[in-house]
Amino acid sequence: MRIVLGVGGGIAAYKVASLLRLFTEAGHDVTVIPTEAATRFVGVATWEALSGHPVSNSVFDAVHTVNHVRLGHEAELIVVAPATADLLARAATGQADDLLTNTLLMAGDCPVLMAPAMHTEMWQHPATEANVETLRSRGVTVLEPASGRLTGADSGPGRLPEPEAIFSAAMALAGASVATAGAPAAPSAAPAGAPAAPSAAPAAVRALTGLTVTISAGGTREPLDPVRFLGNRSSGKQGVALAAAALEAGARVRLLAAHMEVPAPAGVEVVQVETALELRKAALHAAADSDVVIMAAAVADFRPADVSGTKIKKRDDVADPVINLVRNPDILRELVEVRDAASRDQLIVGFAAETGDAGGDVLEYARDKLHRKACDLLVVNQVGQDLVFGEDTNSVVILSRDGSEPQEASGSKSDVAAAVIDRISAELSRAVPPA
Ligand code: C5P
Repeated sequence: MRIVLGVGGGIAAYKVASLLRLFTEAGHDVTVIPTEAATRFVGVATWEALSGHPVSNSVFDAVHTVNHVRLGHEAELIVVAPATADLLARAATGQADDLLTNTLLMAGDCPVLMAPAMHTEMWQHPATEANVETLRSRGVTVLEPASGRLTGADSGPGRLPEPEAIFSAAMALAGASVATAGAPAAPSAAPAGAPAAPSAAPAAVRALTGLTVTISAGGTREPLDPVRFLGNRSSGKQGVALAAAALEAGARVRLLAAHMEVPAPAGVEVVQVETALELRKAALHAAADSDVVIMAAAVADFRPADVSGTKIKKRDDVADPVINLVRNPDILRELVEVRDAASRDQLIVGFAAETGDAGGDVLEYARDKLHRKACDLLVVNQVGQDLVFGEDTNSVVILSRDGSEPQEASGSKSDVAAAVIDRISAELSRAVPPA
């Protein structure tokens, strides 16, 4: 695959040399276009040596090949890393003041992935947020940055996701795997001082490479008035752990984030939602191109029938208010119906938080729920006041619609997530026997 790798002028440019190695070792043909500022961090010689192509950022170099048109037209995938605040702004406003921004404007239908890196204040600045929003609305995939130590003494969201995470997201976006990209190149003799190839397993051997996984996480909030809402105790930890496990397995991951107490993992695409109705809209939209949908969010079953536009006041001359509730749509059920109506190949996984009672035990209720929701897998946990919600550990049983033996998994929420993702991979490989 022909890849254009745009490199922005941030200190994280040095990590992009490892990303370039991942692309070339997977057999891809990469042209690097660093911005002027990027070459102050990593020189042109490094990009030329690692890519095997001449490198320039001027529209006036190689004019006879009409570079600024050709590169955008020929690219099958464009990856920009680090996408600095300045580069995001120039891309969002359609500027064409260097070869990279020209190439982005000439890209047509080519998938574009941007991996931002900058200081937290810049990432959270309304100008950057608006630029990211604009780019996403145009179909550009803008990854979430990682959180952690930044260049100075500061830390927070703004770190470049690891090269392996960007590589996986890029391959998934392009619908490619190493296997379809041509034979992996023989290990090349790296130029002196070149970064070592990352030791992570190549994406080709990862179970979800090339697949898009949508995961809902957290808990919805249903407004009563501008300051109050009906919510639930979900922390989002299990959904976030699932997103990290799916990313690790090589998938492109979309996180539909209702209220969460933990940050999204770096390298996933985040869609923020507040209410069940917003989640429904985002889930139906995301499911249209997803291979797997996991509904881990705690969705409010009911919402207030009336939402007051002003704060509800307590008054001595009027009776205390009564909240009338109406039922929210069952998103999981609807996703299954839409998938079945479209005969789409898609695995849908639900979660069920159950407390047994005098009428039945947890598994009885869960089997009944699996039957009603008709999803492929149901991950069941027993909840109570101190169980599961907000905790770091979990204990679940995975039920399958095909009636196979219930599978137990327990440990940290990451352990449980890994078990669920393994089970999903096993289900997918069973559904599509290898050629
Ligand atoms: O019916 P219950 O809320 O127990 O079902 C839990 C599962 O259904 C979870 O996967 C949850 O995300 C999903 N759900 C939904 N829409 C609702 C309620 C729950 O998709 N309105």
